[in-house]
Amino acid sequence: MAIKNIPVQPIVEQPRPAMERGPLVRITFRPLNVTVEVPEGQSILESCETHRIPLEHSCGGNCACSTCHVIIRDGLDRLSPPEDDELDQLDEAEGLTLTSRLGCQAKIFGDVEVEIPPQQQTLSAGAEEMSRLAHQP
Ligand code: FES
Repeated sequence: MAIKNIPVQPIVEQPRPAMERGPLVRITFRPLNVTVEVPEGQSILESCETHRIPLEHSCGGNCACSTCHVIIRDGLDRLSPPEDDELDQLDEAEGLTLTSRLGCQAKIFGDVEVEIPPQQQTLSAGAEEMSRLAHQP
């Protein structure tokens, strides 16, 4: 029996109408003093990627490195609760605090304030980018 070549249709994501996106929440990054709005349920790392906020993420957001370590200054209870994998990985984080989270695992469900420790600010961010972020209104 011959196998037919079936044409593969590319997957094209359709933009969702604004009403389906859900509410927006605000995330403030320290020490940059930058506040952005993101869709509820997005991770801190995804928010950084969307808004070009420098945050290391060596394992690509797979809970395998702890370079995305952040400290929650306000709104810890407005994040998704940490799972065992995140807690295990957090033990490896430099400068661990009681309000530490992994940016790739913590999803935002309300306004939060997040400190990015100096060692987690991505090395790939150039001085110009850091200056742009620091001087946003
Ligand atoms: S990016 Fe590696 S644990 Fe978050």
